[in-house]
Amino acid sequence: LDHFKYKDDVAFCEDIALTHLADTFGTPVYVYSETTLRQHCRNLKKAFEGHPTLPCFAVKANSNLTFLQTIFSEGFGADLVSLGELERALLAGVNPKEIVFSGVGKKPEEIRRALEVGILSFNVESQYELKTIAQLAKEKNIVARVCLRINPNIDAKTNPKIATGLYTTKFGLAENEAEELTESAKRDPALKLVGLACHIGSQITELGPLHEAAVRMAEIAKKAQEKGHQLEFLNMGGGLGIRYKNESPPSLQDYANALIDATRSVGLKLVIEPGRVIAGNAGVLLTKVIGVKKTPAKHFIVVDAAMNDLVRPTLYNSFHEILPAKTARNKNLGPSKKVLCDFVGPICETGDYLGKDRLVDLPQEGDLFFIRSCGAYGSSMASQYNSRPRAPEVFVQKDVVRLIRPREKLDSLWAEELSALNKNFLCGQ
Ligand code: LLP
Repeated sequence: LDHFKYKDDVAFCEDIALTHLADTFGTPVYVYSETTLRQHCRNLKKAFEGHPTLPCFAVKANSNLTFLQTIFSEGFGADLVSLGELERALLAGVNPKEIVFSGVGKKPEEIRRALEVGILSFNVESQYELKTIAQLAKEKNIVARVCLRINPNIDAKTNPKIATGLYTTKFGLAENEAEELTESAKRDPALKLVGLACHIGSQITELGPLHEAAVRMAEIAKKAQEKGHQLEFLNMGGGLGIRYKNESPPSLQDYANALIDATRSVGLKLVIEPGRVIAGNAGVLLTKVIGVKKTPAKHFIVVDAAMNDLVRPTLYNSFHEILPAKTARNKNLGPSKKVLCDFVGPICETGDYLGKDRLVDLPQEGDLFFIRSCGAYGSSMASQYNSRPRAPEVFVQKDVVRLIRPREKLDSLWAEELSALNKNFLCGQ
């Protein structure tokens, strides 16, 4: 469900024409629908209704402060992976007791800050991490709440770059290693084992692997309970996929039922870490055609958004639908005039494409297109490559538009470097 729809020939985000947003804010620009975002949050919560569940939004999917604030105001906590994400989540008003901290490489300063704010739990992914957390907690005279992240060795059947549930990936602890660590956690007064976690991958479109992981986690939790561990929750991670093209991911209700049914017998609260399913279809990237060119092999539509704004197509070979913001001009041309085109950006790499082999009416300079499903892992993965300022972000609710991140200023790209210009700083002096 989303609120990006055509009214007659013009595409709207809620009550605002995308053409109007391009005129006001320039392009490229990320456009989010607040109503869609809130609806996604509510639908997810509704699917788990009746079973104690804490959804913690995966901040990496979209870490804009206003975007986060909106999600937290819907009763979500945060799943985060760095000090930067922790500070962002706090600024956006998250309840610290609803924060889970994941990641294989937490540094001491990150752990210290999380201990200070009193998070729900660290998702511990290794022996060295447990040791460091215990040591830092002891120094602060605090008991650290920890959760062991299990790697269940399950194939999530997704792109290998975002599959995390197999032993061939760096994530989590094998079951036997986790068992040993539950015992050392028990012996250490600086640690409190509050749960078990897993996250087998992202953009998962089949229920099977998610269900299998839940069954496995319930078995492991039962064993831990039998050994006297007073667990508070089972964290089943994120990973539920969305429709970019013609995928048919499980419904929220089927997803919720699968997790609840598989884990009900252990009587634990659930934590989940959804990212994409909340944010993905709440945003688009709006871009303008700079020109159209043709090589002897194919047509290229050169637009002003590029791989630095949206890296997913080139990084994961992922598909994002690209649609015209205004269709009227081409209306009478009919399908026979459509041409197979690549949408490419201005960056000097052949990998700089946003869409390949799309059948479209050839546009003209200045025409606008919007790239769908960019609310997750779009702006949060943007870079300044080719010294391109990062795109602004706008938030639309009905007929109200808020600029929630201005376009980066050119001079801010090099501000930090200016002071070093023509100065010699020598190491060790
Ligand atoms: N929890 C953990 C521990 C994670 O590592 C992730 C995502 C999530 C939750 C959220 O997963 P989601 O519900 O969004 O699938 N940049 C890639 C996706 C990377 C996902 C990394 N971890 C992309 O653009 O597809």
